Amino acid sequence: MYQTKIAGVGMYVPDRIVKNEELASMIDTTNEWIVERTGIEQRRWFKPGVDSTSSMGTRAAEIAIEKAGLEKQDIDFVVFATLSPDYIFPGSGVLVQEQLGLDTVGALDVRNQCSGFIYGLSIADQFIKTGQYQNILLVCSEVQSNTFDLTDEGRSMAVIFGDGAGALVLSRSEDESQILSTHLHSEGKYAKELILEEPSTLEEKRIMPDLMQRAGRWPYMNGRNVFKHAITRMSESINEALEASDLNKEDIDLLIAHQANLRIAQGVQKKFGLSDDRVFNNIQKYGNTTAASIPIALFEALEQGRFKRGDVLCFTAFGSGFTWASALLKY
Ligand code: UT7
Repeated sequence: MYQTKIAGVGMYVPDRIVKNEELASMIDTTNEWIVERTGIEQRRWFKPGVDSTSSMGTRAAEIAIEKAGLEKQDIDFVVFATLSPDYIFPGSGVLVQEQLGLDTVGALDVRNQCSGFIYGLSIADQFIKTGQYQNILLVCSEVQSNTFDLTDEGRSMAVIFGDGAGALVLSRSEDESQILSTHLHSEGKYAKELILEEPSTLEEKRIMPDLMQRAGRWPYMNGRNVFKHAITRMSESINEALEASDLNKEDIDLLIAHQANLRIAQGVQKKFGLSDDRVFNNIQKYGNTTAASIPIALFEALEQGRFKRGDVLCFTAFGSGFTWASALLKY
């Protein structure tokens, strides 16, 4: 069996910075409320006609490939994680294959929302472990700002979520670097706690004439319930990963939790008693970029020298589905 290492990381965010004050000029909220409840100070919004989920993913992927010291032709397979694909079908993976000019490699789309990065990581790891592929591109990208209800009713979504992309090249390891384990979970009874229902194939016609009057056309989140489950499930899944590798919390050099809300990440940090130098958060700058949040944080942590080869990294995520996941790896 082969092992998988992170060979390169990239990120891309749109130019447009939306500070809390700008949001407060559109909806009934304040900078103070957003900072206190979420830690977020600003986020990025895509530019229609310039950015798309696939194009942002492609930009992040180009950086990841370059950092890995590879050529595009070395990529054997694409995994694309998003909740906001360019189209309902086909998925955005094939668009990245085209935009990067890759050979006719396979492209798989993962629809696991905030847990999409770790689900994608786990899939790539299995393909590399079996020897089927040597270099896999994992792309995570989201355009969420164009689904916000920018009235007071939609404020709980609009203040949190942002746009951006992160990408990894995962390669067959030739040294000690390896993904130690990944752990994937779901609990579909909570599907409607965080959902964008419309347009839906449950209807006679996918686009019903009264679509613009239907509440389900806006994303819905039961914030408090999601919050509560997030801390519990992310903590559980970290313990699961530590047990699987016979490690304990002292062995974690850096924890990167899905950047859902700074209070959630800090809640998990507190449960494990980790000092600030052993966690990385950047939700303050980008908001919650769903599948892209961990790879964006990973890129910045690496650029800032927050971890090095041989360090033990832990990822954990929770979101719509509910889905949650963790991964432990030796970088
Ligand atoms: O990515 C993974 C999935 N998502 C998450 O993990 C997010 C999880 N949830 C959260 O992060 C939080 O629940 C929110 C940030 C969405 C909301 O924070 P909260 O502390 O749970 O606030 P709340 O909904 O309980 O509301 C508290 C108060 C209410 O006022 P009253 O009833 O106490 O007077 C709300 O009306 O804050 C009010 N409020 C706001 N005020 C200003 C709610 N949203 C806002 C807002 N601006 N945007």
